[in-house]
Amino acid sequence: MHLWPRISLLWLGVSGGAHQTVGSDKTTIIYSTIFNGASVSEKEVPAGVCGEAKSYAGYVNFPPNSMIDVTHDYPIHTFFWYFESKKDPENSPLVIWLNGGPGASSMFGLFTENGPCYINRNLTSEPNPWSWNKDYNMLYIDQPVQTGFSYDIITKGLLDLETGNIIPESPNGTPLGNPTKIPGNFSSQNVESTANTTENAARHFWNFLQVWSQDFSRRNSSDGSISIWTESYGGRYGPSFAAFIQQQNARIQDGSLPDANVLNLTTLGIINGCVDLLVQETSAPEFAFDKNAYNISGITSNEYADALVAYSKQDGCQDKILNCLHLGKSLDPRMYGNVTEVNKACEDASDFCQNEVEGPYINRKKWGFYDIAHCYLDSFPGNEYLGYLADENIHKALGVPVNYTDISSTVGRAFNLTGDYARRNSHGYLENIASLLDSGIRVAMVYGDRDYACNWIGGERISLGVGYAQSNEFNLAGYADVITDDPKPAGQVRQHGLFSFTRVYQSGHMVPAYQPKAAYQILHRTMQNKDIATGKIPVTGNYSTSGPYKSTTNLKAPPVPPVVCYLRAMPGTCAKNQIDDVKKGTALIKDGVIVQPLPQAGTCPTLFTSLHEEMQSKADGEENMHTLDELEEL
Ligand SMILES: *[C@@H]1O[C@H](CO)[C@@H](O)[C@H](O)[C@H]1NC(C)=O
Ligand SMILES: *[C@@H]1O[C@H](CO)[C@@H](O)[C@H](O)[C@H]1NC(C)=O
Ligand SMILES: *[C@@H]1O[C@H](CO)[C@@H](O)[C@H](O)[C@H]1NC(C)=O
Ligand SMILES: *[C@@H]1O[C@H](CO)[C@@H](O)[C@H](O)[C@H]1NC(C)=O
Ligand SMILES: *[C@@H]1O[C@H](CO)[C@@H](O)[C@H](O)[C@H]1NC(C)=O
Ligand SMILES: *[C@@H]1O[C@H](CO)[C@@H](O)[C@H](O)[C@H]1NC(C)=O
Ligand SMILES: *[C@@H]1O[C@H](CO)[C@@H](O)[C@H](O)[C@H]1NC(C)=O
Ligand SMILES: *[C@@H]1O[C@H](CO)[C@@H](O)[C@H](O)[C@H]1NC(C)=O
Ligand SMILES: *[C@@H]1O[C@H](CO)[C@@H](O)[C@H](O)[C@H]1NC(C)=O
Ligand SMILES: *[C@@H]1O[C@H](CO)[C@@H](O)[C@H](O)[C@H]1NC(C)=O
Repeated sequence: MHLWPRISLLWLGVSGGAHQTVGSDKTTIIYSTIFNGASVSEKEVPAGVCGEAKSYAGYVNFPPNSMIDVTHDYPIHTFFWYFESKKDPENSPLVIWLNGGPGASSMFGLFTENGPCYINRNLTSEPNPWSWNKDYNMLYIDQPVQTGFSYDIITKGLLDLETGNIIPESPNGTPLGNPTKIPGNFSSQNVESTANTTENAARHFWNFLQVWSQDFSRRNSSDGSISIWTESYGGRYGPSFAAFIQQQNARIQDGSLPDANVLNLTTLGIINGCVDLLVQETSAPEFAFDKNAYNISGITSNEYADALVAYSKQDGCQDKILNCLHLGKSLDPRMYGNVTEVNKACEDASDFCQNEVEGPYINRKKWGFYDIAHCYLDSFPGNEYLGYLADENIHKALGVPVNYTDISSTVGRAFNLTGDYARRNSHGYLENIASLLDSGIRVAMVYGDRDYACNWIGGERISLGVGYAQSNEFNLAGYADVITDDPKPAGQVRQHGLFSFTRVYQSGHMVPAYQPKAAYQILHRTMQNKDIATGKIPVTGNYSTSGPYKSTTNLKAPPVPPVVCYLRAMPGTCAKNQIDDVKKGTALIKDGVIVQPLPQAGTCPTLFTSLHEEMQSKADGEENMHTLDELEEL
């Protein structure tokens, strides 16, 4: 099996070349001036690792029980990677990017969505023309601890490629020669050593940001503002973290929280966010059945009917969520996740709803979770970055002492054990959004319209349900086309003043990966206080879009992309016969991609986009056959 043989050679080319910066191998440690015991370790990352802008990677380190308002008997090392803006970094605002999960690394967003580079099929880094550091200083954070390159206690273990799980090393040692278990150094994998609710994650994040913004030495901008842009589970992180920052600011200002700094939050961006289970849940079967704009039936009418019954029947999903919310409100209002009765009820709600209401679509193994027009084995965005981030030279360039965890099942399990997905904080996440808007913070909701996971139908429902001072005006604003310099609109937007909801056409879950230009324009227009529809009108408090109440554009999906089976992303990208051959050691693997065998015929569905294709696919026995040529083309 080859594991990235080329990468080292290419890397040596870079580090030995003209881009080498003096002192770039050194990690500097700065002890926190405000938080006793905390520190920042930072190092410059050589240019060329990801783009040419100056960048710094490092950790904010907290010894046990050194965070404010958090009890943690374990150390916390939270990884960050900061990229200077390509234009005028000394006056650019700061944009923080957070992926969701829970447990998903922001390196995913960095390398496949909005970072300065992406990794191509030969595992080299190439510039991303729509990188968000075009005009913004970007900060990518791996949180909560045990996600990505963040760690608590370094622990030897094995990455199980079949499941993506990390198995801490057993006394029996490493099974030598097992092709699907790769040794590495990871976090402890202890579910008790991370934040296990959205609110606990907010507390961790606020501590991180206090120390980072005070003590990271390379932030060098006259603009002290902070914006948070996030995705997916970030639909919960975003409102929660932002509201927590505002609450702490109020305490700092009234003197009850000394020795901390006010953080000047100006913007919250939510991309395909799952904000609130109760509000969004029925949109999953609705979108899958007939509410998507692509005329794709993701579930049958029987499955649809069953899902709705599972939602509304006595002691079904809805009742379980209400029970969880009721108990949470009275017994664990601050969402510490330490009340067994609440955890049990909420885990029950979260499990039942996911399995019975969202599950039917997923269990069919037909269409993609993040894109209803892709095969359920979805290789977009590509996973080349996983190979890049496994390389020793990249570890050295970033100064990381652990291997990379793309999505931590330990963090996922920790959140499952408290039933976080079904819960709300004491105000509620819609109410958090409302109070942000009422205090003058911009909130942009951006939803790719092919995503199932946190689909735009549910997202729109959130936007219309936010009860802020101007919600009447927002509800009356109609959908306007989003115009860029492309011939066709990029989507449609409802906006009133500081609040916008944008449906992005032809995009799955990861909008900046699917529609990089549109995503950038939406970011930029929001940040510049311009209207999202045209980017030309300065937004005042009374600005409103006008147009129809509903966005009804129907669209045709492009052909289903072929399967690309990645060794480091097998559960989501490989068919069973491919995984079997990898385990037997008979698969042909090139640069981390299984090129032989191909998936068995019929693995993926096809879209009948034309009569010709329809006949062709009937001739193939309604199966999507992939040739090696197709694979090589990708
Ligand atoms: C890697 O791929 C890019 C384009 O995909 C190409 O420009 C470059 O030459 C390739 N490098 C190597 C070493 O193959
Ligand atoms: C784990 O870390 C130790 C100590 O730094 C190192 O010697 C070892 O090579 C690492 N293991 C792997 C698989 O990277
Ligand atoms: C910050 O920017 C100013 C102006 O360009 C520059 O003089 C200074 O050296 C920079 N400081 C750091 C720490 O990079
Ligand atoms: C916060 O940042 C914004 C944008 O830079 C700025 O206009 C505003 O004055 C800042 N507010 C405070 C209180 O510093
Ligand atoms: C939608 O798809 C069905 C087949 O699944 C087809 O009969 C129908 O004509 C399609 N409608 C449109 C508007 O394309
Ligand atoms: C839960 O944790 C909070 C904060 O540490 C504490 O105040 C509370 O007493 C704990 N509740 C239980 C039931 O342990
Ligand atoms: C969640 O985290 C809190 C705070 O660390 C802890 O007290 C609680 O026991 C955890 N809950 C579970 C179910 O592990
Ligand atoms: C969390 O719970 C969901 C719903 O039961 C399940 O699908 C998922 O695999 C669980 N995640 C982890 C990491 O255990
Ligand atoms: C961990 O990193 C080392 C190099 O630092 C690499 O040799 C090893 O294969 C990596 N392990 C995993 C599971 O990626
Ligand atoms: C919106 O308010 C501004 C001043 O705040 C005013 O100049 C403008 O005419 C108003 N526009 C509309 C459409 O009411």
